[in-house]
Amino acid sequence: MTVAVFPGSFDPITLGHLNIIERAAAVFDKVVVCVIGNSEKRYMFTEEQRLAFAKKAVSHLENVEAQAHTGLLTDFMASVDSTLLVKGVRNAQDMDYEYMMERANKTLREDIEVMYLFSDPEFIHVSSTTTREMIKYNKKLDCYLPSSVIEEMQNIQ
Ligand code: PNS
Repeated sequence: MTVAVFPGSFDPITLGHLNIIERAAAVFDKVVVCVIGNSEKRYMFTEEQRLAFAKKAVSHLENVEAQAHTGLLTDFMASVDSTLLVKGVRNAQDMDYEYMMERANKTLREDIEVMYLFSDPEFIHVSSTTTREMIKYNKKLDCYLPSSVIEEMQNIQ
C-alpha cells in the first residue's frame, strides 16, 4: 500500500491545498495530511485549530486522514510508514523553495521520494498568506477556503 504524506503548516488549509489532496487521493492508496509547523514561524491559528480545519476539509475523502506532528517531517513519515511526499507547486518560486526542502529532507532520510503536482490554474492565486489577509479584513472567503472550513472558522470566532 502506498501511503503519501502531504505536509504543510496549513494556516489555514485552502482550496488550493484541497485540489492537490483530492488529486493525490485519486492516485495513491492513502494520503495523510500532516499539519506540521516550522519552529521559527508564528501562526494565525493554533495547531489544534489548523488540524480541525484540515480534518473538516478532507472529511469527504475516504482514503485521506489528517494528523498533526511537532518535530521533523521525516520522523512523521516513519511513524506512518511512508517514504513518499506529495507537494503542490504553483509557480517557479514554489519550485525553488520545494527543491531546497527536498534536499534538506534527503539529508535526513535518503530513501524518501517527493512527487510534485502543479496546481490547477484556478488555484494559482490561492495561498494561506492571501487567505489570512482576507480573514483579517473580513472579506469573502469562498474563493479561498472549502465551505466546511469557513463553517468551522465561524464556530471558533
Ligand atoms: O505550508 P508551509 O509552511 O510551506 O510548509 C512548510 C513545512 C511545514 C512543510 C516545512 O516547514 C516542514 O517540513 N517543517 C517541518 C520541520 C522539518 O522537517 N524540517 C526539515 C527540513 S529543514
